[in-house]
Amino acid sequence: MIAVQLARPGESGRIPLVLLHAFPLDSRMWDEVVPLIGDGVPVLTVDLPGMGGAPDPTEPPSVEVAADAVAEALRGHGPAVVAGLSMGGYIALALAERHPDLVAALGLLDTKALADAPDAAANRLRIADEVRQSGTVDAVRPMATSLLGDSTRAARPALVARVGEWIGQQRPVGVAWSQRAMAARPDRTGLLRGWDRPALVLVGAEDGPTPPSVATETAQLLGIEPVVVPAAGHLTAIEDPAAVARALNDLVEAV
Ligand code: MLT
Repeated sequence: MIAVQLARPGESGRIPLVLLHAFPLDSRMWDEVVPLIGDGVPVLTVDLPGMGGAPDPTEPPSVEVAADAVAEALRGHGPAVVAGLSMGGYIALALAERHPDLVAALGLLDTKALADAPDAAANRLRIADEVRQSGTVDAVRPMATSLLGDSTRAARPALVARVGEWIGQQRPVGVAWSQRAMAARPDRTGLLRGWDRPALVLVGAEDGPTPPSVATETAQLLGIEPVVVPAAGHLTAIEDPAAVARALNDLVEAV
C-alpha cells in the first residue's frame, strides 16, 4: 500500500523525520530537502498508496487507511517528527489524530485541516472517474502549472517540466484512489485546537490551492505564526527546498 524509504540514515536514538508528499506526486518531491536536514537526523520518505513506488492500494480509499499504513511502518521506530505537504498534510493530521503516540511534532506545509466543500469533493470524484475510465492521468496533468507559483512558472521552466514529468509517471490507480480518499476526509481543525506538541505551519506566498490566509487560520488554531516562503507556490519543497529544510530543522530542534 505504501513504500517507505530511509532517505538519509541518522544516528541511532535520534527521532526520525518522516516526510509525506503532495498529490499527484511522490517522494521524489523531497529530494532537494533531505540533504539539508540537520546531521544525524534519520529521514524517512514515503510513497503514499498507489503513488510512486508504492503498490496498488487494495483497501477502500481514505486518508485514515493511508495514515494507518504509515503508523504500521513507524512502529518500531518510535515517535517521529511527521511533516506533510498538502495531501501529505491531510495524512499527517489523520496520523496525529489516530496514532498520537507516534507523532512527536507536526509539520503542516501548504495544507489545511478543513474538509472539502461539497463541490470540491464532487470535482475530485469526477476526476477519479475520468482517470479510471481513460486509463491515463491526463486529467491531473494541468496541475504541473497550477500547483507552482507565478514566480516559478515565469522563471524556472525546467522545474515546471520536472513536475510535469513526475505527474505523468503516476499510475491512474493511485491518482484515482488519492482523489477519492481526499474527497472523503473530515474536518480536523479540532485536533489542532488541542495540539500541545511542537508544530509548524508553512506556506508559499504564491500558494493558490491553500493560500497564506488559510495557513494563518491553521496557525492560529495552534497558537503559532505561519512561516511564509516568498516567491513560492503550493510546492514549496520543490520551489524553495532550503527554506523548507530550515523550517523543518527548527521543528526537529523543538522536540
Ligand atoms: C496536493 O498538492 O497534495 C493537492 O493540491 C491536495 C489537494 O488536492 O487538496
